[in-house]
Amino acid sequence: MKHDIADPSLAEEGRRRIDWAGQRMPVLATITERFRAESPLSGVRVGACLHVTAETANLMLALQAGGAEVGLCASNPLSTQDNVAAALVADGMPVFAVRGEDSDRYYRHIRDVLDMNPEVTMDDGADLVSTLLKERPDQAPLGSTEETTTGVIRLRAMEEAGVLRFPVVAVNDSATKHLFDNRHGTGQSALDGILRATNILFAGRTLVVVGYGDCGIGVAARAKGLGAKVVVIEVDPVRALSAAMEGYQVMTAADAAAVGDVFITVTGNLGVLRGEHFDLMKDGAILANAGHFDVEIDLGDLEARITARRRIRHELDECTLADGRRLYLAAGGRLVNLAAAEGHPADVMDMSFANQALAAEWLKANAGTLEPRVYRLPEYLDAEVARIKLESLGAGLETLTPEQEEYLRSWELGT
Ligand code: NAI
Repeated sequence: MKHDIADPSLAEEGRRRIDWAGQRMPVLATITERFRAESPLSGVRVGACLHVTAETANLMLALQAGGAEVGLCASNPLSTQDNVAAALVADGMPVFAVRGEDSDRYYRHIRDVLDMNPEVTMDDGADLVSTLLKERPDQAPLGSTEETTTGVIRLRAMEEAGVLRFPVVAVNDSATKHLFDNRHGTGQSALDGILRATNILFAGRTLVVVGYGDCGIGVAARAKGLGAKVVVIEVDPVRALSAAMEGYQVMTAADAAAVGDVFITVTGNLGVLRGEHFDLMKDGAILANAGHFDVEIDLGDLEARITARRRIRHELDECTLADGRRLYLAAGGRLVNLAAAEGHPADVMDMSFANQALAAEWLKANAGTLEPRVYRLPEYLDAEVARIKLESLGAGLETLTPEQEEYLRSWELGT
């Protein structure tokens, strides 16, 4: 079996990690059990380009339980958990992922997965699909799934440009994904990443959140809970207003640059912190990105201002500027929650990956009837995921009485 991982001897450690995560993924476990009984993916080749973590491993095992043949590569060179990759390979799954791999090896691994000629592809950022569309004109999967906001934006652009050749499910658009994964997952794990890289005290510091979407809402709320003074930078007036009414200070990037102690970017956009902002920042300011790739903090602009750079702690670089100020860059500007910490907790990936598994099943069940465009999963599947998760939390769910249902359906009944 072809594979490329860092160290096969880490397999046992990886198995324990996968097991721990699996115990926190009750929705995925329920789906896995049903998949085992029904084999909805029997013989389907699934090629996945996802963060190679213990949670992803549990998704891969769910797909295998459903009868799929699975291959996996990384969607980010810094997020791979080498022990998890080793465990999957030891159990017979082709995995192509090495933590810290360079760009050439990263894309070689994507091509290794494409060499399987997958019938369903899974992406986190659309790298697999975009490589397939550019380099494999002969391949036409029956469909693909996309995990994150940035990937969905890229896929909609492909749809509009008329280059998308197959249907794609925007898993990110499921409510049980983005309202929980982006908010609670990124909210908690981005701060976890900054804490592990710096061990600073948040209380009393000014934390600047760039972008107040689902991720920004989560980051701001958690930072406030830790006692930070939160400043938000937004370009969308409604979202900026919503941040202001939540009690945060809303500022332009230029104003915020001068007051921030910690900056965290979650926009999905490029160059949101750049030279003109670095020039205004305080000595000691910390820069971290939890948005996408490594483009949100302009690393070229930063590099151009640096006279000395040293790794001062795990995933933290001290960058000394010509005027003597020091800026601290976490995780090289890549996703801080994945590179400096362990990514989202399994409890929240449970719902995201339940949606991924259901999306693969839905694509297979509807093969041949879908158009080459970006779809959302049907809402009843969202409700189902939420229902199972609530049960696992021991929460009670109220039901409407027949009279209430009738009242809500009717326009004739008045007060
Ligand atoms: P979103 O679209 O809900 O929010 C992004 C916000 O950034 C929007 O409100 C937009 O107006 C704002 N924005 C764009 N350009 C800006 C600029 N120059 N200055 C200030 N604000 C700007 O997206 P969401 O779901 O919050 O995701 C944000 C990014 O995080 C995406 O790239 C997504 O792929 C990524 N993501 C990362 C995760 C992780 O594990 N680190 C998990 C989930 C998403």
